[in-house]
Amino acid sequence: MKKILVATEKPFAPVAIKGIREVTDAAGYNLVLLEKYSSKQELLDAVADVDAIIIRSDIIDAEVMSAAKNLKIVVRAGAGYDNVDLAAATERGICVMNTPGQNANAVAELVFGMLVFMARGMFSGAAGCELKGRTIGIHAFGNVGRNVARIAKGFGMNIAVYDAFVSKEAVEEAGCRWCETPEELYASSDVVSLHLPATAETKQSINKALLSKMPKPAFLVNTARKEVIHEQELIEVMTERADFKYATDIAPVAAEEFAKFEGRYFATPKKMGAQTAEANINAGIAAAKQIVAFFEEGCERFRLNK
Ligand code: 3PG
Repeated sequence: MKKILVATEKPFAPVAIKGIREVTDAAGYNLVLLEKYSSKQELLDAVADVDAIIIRSDIIDAEVMSAAKNLKIVVRAGAGYDNVDLAAATERGICVMNTPGQNANAVAELVFGMLVFMARGMFSGAAGCELKGRTIGIHAFGNVGRNVARIAKGFGMNIAVYDAFVSKEAVEEAGCRWCETPEELYASSDVVSLHLPATAETKQSINKALLSKMPKPAFLVNTARKEVIHEQELIEVMTERADFKYATDIAPVAAEEFAKFEGRYFATPKKMGAQTAEANINAGIAAAKQIVAFFEEGCERFRLNK
């Protein structure tokens, strides 16, 4: 009997686990849970005899894979897979997949939750500002970026997009203004929302040169990854510009330094963009179905490592 482990430091909603279990039960698999674990050793022990793992932002590195002698597949129930060592997986013949798009709406909705919160002075009672008529710059136009654009239309915002891998035609077809360079995006946006993956190319790419181009007042919202920000340069910009606000769903490394920007800096206590029942159900069940299809039909759709 195949053994499937759900290893989630940040657990899924119980209703999502119920849905995952229905899928694995129907396939005759044994589902086990490791939730809210606090040490890597717990993860190393839990993976010892499993055939498949469903994870979220949990780190699956070479050590974890080496401890999982039967492991054939890891599915990241979500979009970003910077937490999985793809090269180590390939070396060991382990397939790695994600579940693209399944939690995108949840993340996009949080963008607007944070935007309204910041635009209204963190609900302090002071007069804030409205989003209607302002320009939101969407940096990277994947599943989350596209959902942000859809919601921004409802707010009556103008939408600009920069994505090195998406054509002008595709951006315009989505009813957005295409920017040729990131500089053009930042220079023409009141608000910039980040949706880039953390890769060697994007790490620390959101730097002072780019951020300084934003008109006043500026507002940056990050529901992507902390790694894409050059934190010290963002601190410099915020120190020099009292109009600059930053809201993030991923606590920065330099959290204490950011905390001094009272009233114009906000970080969620725990990353929660994808933390809705719907997103948990969508991503969790998709992951379970992908595992069953992998074992039963050899289906490798959404495989990330070649
Ligand atoms: C993702 O990459 O799918 C999101 O960042 C959500 O991550 P999480 O599953 O850790 O909440």
